[in-house]
Amino acid sequence: MSKVQTIGVLTSGGDAPGMNAAIRGVVRTAMKYGIKVKGIMRGYAGLLNEEIIDMDSMSVSDIIHRGGTILYTARCMEFMTPEGQEKAAEICRKHGIEGLVVIGGDGSFRGAQKLANHGINAVGVPGTIDLDISCTEYTIGFDTAVNTAMEAIDKIRDTSASHERCSIIEVMGRNAGYIALWSAIASGAEDVLLPERYDYNEQAIIDSLIEKHRSGKTHHIIINAEGNGHSTSMAKRIEQATGIETRATVLGHMQRGGSPSCKDRVYASIMGAKAVELLSEGKTKRIVAYKNGDYVDFDIDEALSMTKDIPEEQYQIFRKLVR
Ligand code: ADP
Ligand code: F6P
Repeated sequence: MSKVQTIGVLTSGGDAPGMNAAIRGVVRTAMKYGIKVKGIMRGYAGLLNEEIIDMDSMSVSDIIHRGGTILYTARCMEFMTPEGQEKAAEICRKHGIEGLVVIGGDGSFRGAQKLANHGINAVGVPGTIDLDISCTEYTIGFDTAVNTAMEAIDKIRDTSASHERCSIIEVMGRNAGYIALWSAIASGAEDVLLPERYDYNEQAIIDSLIEKHRSGKTHHIIINAEGNGHSTSMAKRIEQATGIETRATVLGHMQRGGSPSCKDRVYASIMGAKAVELLSEGKTKRIVAYKNGDYVDFDIDEALSMTKDIPEEQYQIFRKLVR
């Protein structure tokens, strides 16, 4: 017998491929427990506007393979205020929403934490292509996004090699270099610039390019994370300093779209189901996570106080593998 009768589900912050699979996991699991589900459109903004729909098993048919989120997503300033949070909790009570599944990143979890403090049982499911949620080794969307980036880099590599150019490819990650590091290792790039490690020593990049060019390397791939920016101006300066024709490509939002990978569909389904299990047991203020090969959950306060950095070992291995 579930401890809650009605739950809500919303997606918030940047969308990520696999969010639909998580929504489906939430709805279908809830149905099995006899729990009613209300879908909240457009994240916290939709909650404050009472954009709330009834969901059933059919509402999530035919979505597991689709990128984006059928519930839409948004960022909401009003919800950042204590008044907005109080109002949102009131709206949940008005609609009989006793528990809420929040699919999003750290910012969205801070919102869930506030709602939990107002008495709404809240569970977070990690959804972001950036992989930058500290308590978990997996976030929904990273696998698809990094494969999308890798495939795009492979294509750029073909033309870069034909023209004997240097290509600077900017991948997503405002504060996190996971997509950059993984796509750099996977595509055999010559250099990677991570927000966590970038020292703005452009001269070192130039010197290394000149040396590689002299030793016979005819084309070069440099992966730059969005957080460092300036790829186009960097390309101009590098071309001028090295004499190697250089082009910049910003991959942008294409990395957030597309049909989710098998891994993202499966992990997201399991995490969505696990969030409902926690709510059905009367739990609140939890974040579903993947750690050391297991699906686990953490207290939100504890999860939000954790920190995470690019694993130094992975970064050093990238360096070792460069010719
Ligand atoms: P993400 O969840 O991907 O980290 P954001 O940081 O943009 O994305 O957060 C998404 C939304 O979560 C914000 O627009 C806001 O409504 C809510 N939010 C973010 N930070 C807080 C906070 N400290 N307190 C309450 N709500 C927050
Ligand atoms: O979803 C994460 C992310 O893609 C970051 O890498 C990026 O900086 C940010 O979202 C951009 O979000 P938007 O363009 O939607 O504001």
